[in-house]
Amino acid sequence: MPFKTASALSTPMADRNRLAQSLLRGEAYFGPTMAALQGPPQRHRFLLPTAKKICEKFEGPIRILEIGSWAGASSVTWVKAFIELGRPVTIDCLDQWAPYFDLSRETHAHYTRMNEAAASEDIYALFLHNLRAEGIDDRVNILRGSSKKILPNLKAEAYHLIYIDGSHLYPDVLSDIGQAKRLILNRGIICGDDLEIQADEVPAHELAQAVESRLDYTSVGSDPRFFHPGVTAAVAEELGVVSAWGGYWAIRWERGKVNKIVLDLTKVNLPAHIQRAVDQEPVLPDEDTPVLIRTVGEFNLISFKGQVIGIHLSSGPIDVREGIPSILERLGPDKVLIGANEDNILCGIALRKKMKELEDRQAKVAERVESRIMETDAALRKDVQQSEARQTESVELLRQQVAEHSRILTDFTRGVVGRLLFPKNKNKSR
Ligand SMILES: C[S@@+](CC[C@H](N)C(=O)[O-])C[C@H]1O[C@@H](n2cnc3c(N)ncnc32)[C@H](O)[C@@H]1O
Repeated sequence: MPFKTASALSTPMADRNRLAQSLLRGEAYFGPTMAALQGPPQRHRFLLPTAKKICEKFEGPIRILEIGSWAGASSVTWVKAFIELGRPVTIDCLDQWAPYFDLSRETHAHYTRMNEAAASEDIYALFLHNLRAEGIDDRVNILRGSSKKILPNLKAEAYHLIYIDGSHLYPDVLSDIGQAKRLILNRGIICGDDLEIQADEVPAHELAQAVESRLDYTSVGSDPRFFHPGVTAAVAEELGVVSAWGGYWAIRWERGKVNKIVLDLTKVNLPAHIQRAVDQEPVLPDEDTPVLIRTVGEFNLISFKGQVIGIHLSSGPIDVREGIPSILERLGPDKVLIGANEDNILCGIALRKKMKELEDRQAKVAERVESRIMETDAALRKDVQQSEARQTESVELLRQQVAEHSRILTDFTRGVVGRLLFPKNKNKSR
């Protein structure tokens, strides 16, 4: 999940220096480089109270299975929680430490960084370093590979606690939870991360669409909340409504049934390694700091106040703190796109492109129609002129014929009248 740490703004040099210092000093590193600290730090507060719930029901050493360990932040929190409670503990950390995001779908830089950290093996090296630095490497058993391959081979009912934080895609979470039900001891706890919304809080068809998108982290409909649809859908399908605290969720598995749990959240501090990481963070970019995400086509994408704003490159340098209404008024709606997330803006850009194509096509068709009308006009005018000329000719012909006939008639009339008036003349002449 693109969690908002300094990595969102990225001061890469300073971040890397901190990583280098930690490595040189043999200290654990859970900073923004390689997204070593995953998810909001506050979620680590819920793990110690969960560990207490385990200790209420079980005596002796505790066995934990963690699906998804990355740089080891949650592995350290779990182990230290049981140590604090005075319990011997071991944790099986299952992770493939290999690139797993489909970058053709996931366009946020966070996913590219994670894939790169996994491909270079740097994250696996950091995981090993962090375990050693925190002094818990002897409690950890590493199971490296995909959960689909490894989980079915593990012994049933072997763990007191199973923490699910691997791939967040629906089929993967579904299969991880399915296996967890087989692997957990009766009265053990199955828990996990990144359940920001439960399924009954979202319209079913919108959740189905979000799952279908195969995006790790997204929002649906007009709901501005971002969440992991794969986790939401799979948890609902396998476990129903679960206990949840700000994205962290848990249930107790009792005689094949799901029971909700209540955590004692009084006086729970951040674990020391997480508190250190938070203290070392530079000032976090808050929502009021505009962050240039990237340039897509002719638009700069800027995140600001929980929104993503697309500003057309031709607009020149724009400070979005000026306020959207004023920018909109100044630049006009063609130059400014606003959305709840990057996808909204990408859709806007795609729509804009389509509209432009349609407008161009419409203009070409209009041009062709216009020239056809002009051609037809000219042809019609010629026809009309020709038919006018023909009509004039006919009228002239008729006029001549009428004149001729009238002349003949006059002559004839004169002849008849003459003969009637002067019949003798006729005899005389004979
Ligand atoms: C969100 S991170 C875990 C973060 C860790 N629990 C923490 O809080 O520090 C998810 C982890 O799941 C791992 N992962 C993803 N898909 C997996 C799969 N199919 N099998 C095993 N591990 C997987 C990734 O390599 C990554 O380390």
